[in-house]
Amino acid sequence: MKIHQIIKLILKKYAKNKKNKIKEIIKIIEIGINKTFDKWKQEEEIEKKLIDTIDKISKMVLNYNFPIQYFQTFVEFGCSRRCLKLYINPYTLIPRIETEILVEKAFQRIMKLGIIKKYEDILIIDFGTGSGNIALYLTKLLNNNKIKTIGTDISFNALKVAQKNSIINNIEIFLLNSQNLNMIKKSKNTFLILLSNPPYLTKKEMRKELYFEPEYALLTIRKTFFYQNLINFSIENKPSISFFEIDKKSFEKLLPFLLKNQLKYSISPLQKSIYMLEIFNIK
Ligand SMILES: C[S@@+](CC[C@H](N)C(=O)[O-])C[C@H]1O[C@@H](n2cnc3c(N)ncnc32)[C@H](O)[C@@H]1O
Repeated sequence: MKIHQIIKLILKKYAKNKKNKIKEIIKIIEIGINKTFDKWKQEEEIEKKLIDTIDKISKMVLNYNFPIQYFQTFVEFGCSRRCLKLYINPYTLIPRIETEILVEKAFQRIMKLGIIKKYEDILIIDFGTGSGNIALYLTKLLNNNKIKTIGTDISFNALKVAQKNSIINNIEIFLLNSQNLNMIKKSKNTFLILLSNPPYLTKKEMRKELYFEPEYALLTIRKTFFYQNLINFSIENKPSISFFEIDKKSFEKLLPFLLKNQLKYSISPLQKSIYMLEIFNIK
């Protein structure tokens, strides 16, 4: 069967002839025949074994909304500044554009505040590192050997992915399989930069399109649970600055805690109803 015939078949079988699915189908075929679109030949015949693979991937992606990125196995992150190539698998969340913007905004704030110049030792902690995207991207952008970066995660499988990404991108980060940041001891003079995109959805908020990503990466028992613990850690480990990805509802619920503790914070939009919460603890 020729490529154009396969496209027609997949459109008919899994996309009810929806022409807006063509881009996705082209990606599926690229994965199936392991060749990018620009290298295809119009009249190329595709062998039966590969057509079966394309059919299976199409069914998963187009019928069941299985994320195509898990078949692609590599995604790009941070390409507006310094591209990272990230390996991902179903143990890790697929890195999102809002998280990329979060890291870029955090980077700009760190530079504006002159933190790198002012402090001799800097420790970056990325809580819930997943594929390592936040830890690796910020370390790459700051590019300074005063900085030590630690990524933590509850999932050992996610940490294996982050480790692989550290090697692929040639960026040194330390990885810790832990839920408890108190295991990390820093000296009084070290400046802490804490970042996290923690799980922030409740079971009720779970959406169909997130079904195939790991629950432990998405769900929390209480909207404010991770934020309060992380903020307490950042207060205990002053001087520090923290950057969190947060949705509107979590922020509203967290606000009384921020006010009660008289914390200096700012909130800025990332995408849709997702925000960056920044907390600054110098003294
Ligand atoms: C929303 S994902 C973020 C992943 C990645 N940082 C990103 O932005 O794409 C949350 C991450 O937190 C991790 N996680 C969940 N509960 C945790 C806990 N109690 N302690 C440490 N990490 C946890 C999950 O395994 C997951 O990798």
